[in-house]
Amino acid sequence: MGQPMGLRLIEQNVPLIAYNRTAAKLQLLQEKGAIVTNSPEVAIKAADCFILMLADSAASEEVLFSDASRPYLSDRTFIQMGTIAPTESQRLHDAIVAAGGEYLEAPVLGSIPQVQTRELIVMVGSTEEQFNRWFNLLKHFSPEPIHIGPVGTAAATKLALNQLIVSLTGAFGLSLGFIERYGVDVEQFMQILRQSALYAPTFDKKLSRMSDRNYANPNFPTKHLLKDTDLFLEQARELGLNLNSLEGMRQIVQKAIDLGFADDDYSAIYSAIND
Ligand SMILES: NC(=O)c1ccc[n+]([C@@H]2O[C@H](COP(=O)([O-])OP(=O)(O)OC[C@H]3O[C@@H](n4cnc5c(N)ncnc54)[C@H](OP(=O)(O)O)[C@@H]3O)[C@@H](O)[C@H]2O)c1
Repeated sequence: MGQPMGLRLIEQNVPLIAYNRTAAKLQLLQEKGAIVTNSPEVAIKAADCFILMLADSAASEEVLFSDASRPYLSDRTFIQMGTIAPTESQRLHDAIVAAGGEYLEAPVLGSIPQVQTRELIVMVGSTEEQFNRWFNLLKHFSPEPIHIGPVGTAAATKLALNQLIVSLTGAFGLSLGFIERYGVDVEQFMQILRQSALYAPTFDKKLSRMSDRNYANPNFPTKHLLKDTDLFLEQARELGLNLNSLEGMRQIVQKAIDLGFADDDYSAIYSAIND
């Protein structure tokens, strides 16, 4: 996600310094005009705003709070756009504010194609004033970034949406497997489903991948879906919600990873349901 987001900023003439620990992954951004570095402190020192789009909260902490980066955190704004837990986001906020910086969370719904068409749904957890100040920057990714509330609320909203990704995909995969095993015509089943209140557009988006067992070239890999499922389970357990169904789905996502689909499209959970 970081690369297409960086490309989008370059297209919009936003001056960009791009960091990745793996230099090879910066090549395209460099060719398109970004200054690139594999030292986070170089980017933090040079910019007034640092967008974090890393795998998880541990990665963000590693990048920000090394001895080399820490001295440059003051008077900078950090916008964390990956999917992390509300408590992790609050911890990042507190550590950045303690170091003299500012922090917003702005997780996104949508994937690489929506970055390219500026159709991400950007949900912001921050003060009203911070939201207004950074609105135009966030508008490069979304027609209308949404202010949810203080830090933690946007992270919670994002996890609630990703819980639907895993549960809807698993529920559809189970019905599809049932239909396939019974030898019922899949297109006829889909026609009925599409007319019904049970239909969700994600079913058609994943149907051909599931039918063909083709999970290559993912926008969102299975390993990140497992991460988000675990984040949701951890937070929801503390809230006392009944998690029986999601715990079952977690086992299915883990099985897909055990089958070797960690870096493939998350619709690979179909192979864990109907192999
Ligand atoms: N893909 C999507 O459709 C999508 C949609 C919405 C939200 N998200 C969320 O956005 C975040 C990024 O997703 P992605 O799909 O771009 O993931 P990705 O392709 O796996 O990229 C993760 C990035 O984090 C870096 N990273 C990991 N650990 C690090 C560490 N310890 N220190 C420094 N850098 C580290 C990786 O560096 P290397 O390149 O060196 O490995 C890579 O640049 C995740 O939280 C994901 O859940 C993804």
